[in-house]
Amino acid sequence: MSEESKKPPAPSSASPEASGRFSRRWFLQGVALSAGTAVLPGEGLLGGSAFAAPQAPARIGPEPVQIALSVNGKDYQVKVEPRVTLLNALRNYLNLGTNTPIDLTGTKRVCDRGSCGSCTVILDGKTVYSCSVLAVECQGKKITTVEGVAEGNQPHPIQQAFVECDGLMCGFCTPGFIVSSKALLDRNPHPTPTEIRRALNGNICRCGTYNRVFQAVELASIRMKVKGG
Ligand code: FES
Ligand code: FES
Repeated sequence: MSEESKKPPAPSSASPEASGRFSRRWFLQGVALSAGTAVLPGEGLLGGSAFAAPQAPARIGPEPVQIALSVNGKDYQVKVEPRVTLLNALRNYLNLGTNTPIDLTGTKRVCDRGSCGSCTVILDGKTVYSCSVLAVECQGKKITTVEGVAEGNQPHPIQQAFVECDGLMCGFCTPGFIVSSKALLDRNPHPTPTEIRRALNGNICRCGTYNRVFQAVELASIRMKVKGG
């Protein structure tokens, strides 16, 4: 074997396209170069602003702050510490300190930890557990409680149907079921039995009135259909 043939092949700077060969080393060099380019601050796609420190959110509290809440179409002034939940604000703080304090106690506190549904309200068209939402987060949003479900002086069809179907026993869960049912009928006036069960699966009734509650929603839906709803 000649001396020339023992030598390792000289590294080639030519591209694989030019040389017609792809090597593992050439591939890894390419990957490293790409990664290095991506993380250079101030350079390329990920440079500059992507590494800027996030803006700190505006700080409020811990002392009470004045906020406005829109509940059932009316505006209320509320002074609450930022830790106060929407449920607590509705029941205990509306217009406190004014000549016309009001509390909307139809929204019930049962578990106070987001598991029973008794405190359900509609917030900008979606049902939420009001015990799990801070009042300060609800500024500028439309809140509907069980007191706002009726249509003027007339009960909403779902309220009437609850009465006729005897859909309650102790009644503690009922405001939450009424509000969840109204939200369902607003977005789906003619739900199937499965859709009714699914929509109400965040509400718990310790007295076990589920079947009558489901019947009430079906009855309300039928009545709304007859009325052209
Ligand atoms: S009181 Fe809010 S979920 Fe039970
Ligand atoms: S009627 Fe008593 S918890 Fe539902």
